[in-house]
Amino acid sequence: MSITAPVVQAPPKLSIGPIGLDVPVVLAPMAGITNTAFRRLCREFGAGLYVSEMITSRALVERTPETMRLIQHHPSETPRSIQLYGVDPATMAAAARILVEEDRTDHIDMNFGCPVPKVTRKGGGAALPWKLDLFREIVEQVVEAAGPVPVTVKMRKGIDSDHLTYLEAAKAAEGAGAAAIALHARTAADFYSGQADWSAITRLKETISSIPVLGNGDIWSGEDGVRMMDETGCDGVVVGRGCLGRPWLFGDLSAAFRVRSGELSAAEAETLRAAPSLGDVAKTLRRHTELLVEFFGDEDRACRDIRKHVAWYLKGYPAGHEVRAALSTVTSLAAMDEILASLDWSLPYPGVDAEGPRGRAGSPKNPSLPEHWLESRTLAGAGRADLADAELSHSGG
Ligand SMILES: Cc1cc2nc3c(=O)[nH]c(=O)nc-3n(C[C@H](O)[C@H](O)[C@H](O)COP(=O)(O)O)c2cc1C
Repeated sequence: MSITAPVVQAPPKLSIGPIGLDVPVVLAPMAGITNTAFRRLCREFGAGLYVSEMITSRALVERTPETMRLIQHHPSETPRSIQLYGVDPATMAAAARILVEEDRTDHIDMNFGCPVPKVTRKGGGAALPWKLDLFREIVEQVVEAAGPVPVTVKMRKGIDSDHLTYLEAAKAAEGAGAAAIALHARTAADFYSGQADWSAITRLKETISSIPVLGNGDIWSGEDGVRMMDETGCDGVVVGRGCLGRPWLFGDLSAAFRVRSGELSAAEAETLRAAPSLGDVAKTLRRHTELLVEFFGDEDRACRDIRKHVAWYLKGYPAGHEVRAALSTVTSLAAMDEILASLDWSLPYPGVDAEGPRGRAGSPKNPSLPEHWLESRTLAGAGRADLADAELSHSGG
């Protein structure tokens, strides 16, 4: 008879309903970016939860071919995670039922943070939590439709500094059965400007006690992720722009959190820190493109899509204007190989020049809202019909 030692499993560092994560890190949903190709690439470097691009509930219910393609995961992607956007409780619930009954996801996130004027003007995105009754109904119905699949809510602080919604909305979501709340600590009026206000994450964490609070905004390094948790007390971090052109950030985040939990020494973590040479960057850009070819099933479309990532990948590296311009118009993998071969792959990591802010920035914007939107915190039946347009032409958060 042999005696086997019991397998002792470390408790998860973050639990979202039944999903246990080894590191408290979430890839932020980013429209046009976090497709299965980019998620797979990020996952190869780290651990955590990797959320899909936003899927509009109506398009899912209508099963448009593009949406059915967007919701696909690769078998290596586990747990699977899909973000839904919508303004109508019944349509959102129907979309959630499709995802759950057809076993298409393990987690549903809901987007209530979009600041884009054409969306808020109709009462969608970051404008919606102002109508607390509608917001609560959406969360309740999606939670009910999703059954065992955990549903989380992602929001901004509010419409502007005079119309903050996050604390009340988070309480409503907690009461409606959400499994976690993620806060992008900016208002819609802030858009992507300035610094995210991490003190709002602290306040949210003080307000919500029964489910995890995830902080989001301006995490550019592993240390930033740990600092956000230490400063705000939040239970996990959501990372968006910081990983654009830097999927290895998820390796740095994993290492930084393992130092925090005592699993790694700071010296060990330092040896794991990503310091990609220009050759490593070239290989990763190539791999990203290959994964996009698999995702789109179309080399031309993949090459067109990778162009927007080129400047992020090469940020801080001494790659000349001509190479950047050529990659920004690349039309085939063979052409990409030729351009990449012209680079000096032995050039080392440039350090801070390759780090820091990237992606959307810009200045504050006066949020556009439907007429009389701010006059009451509820939205009666007739007003809801006008909301439907807020789901059209949506481009992310
Ligand atoms: C290109 C882009 C697309 C985005 N699309 C979405 C989206 O579809 N859903 C969403 O909830 N947030 C979206 N966001 C917002 C991010 O998820 C995140 O909240 C925001 O970028 C702040 O985090 P960061 O400072 O780590 O980038 C998007 C952001 C960017 C830059």
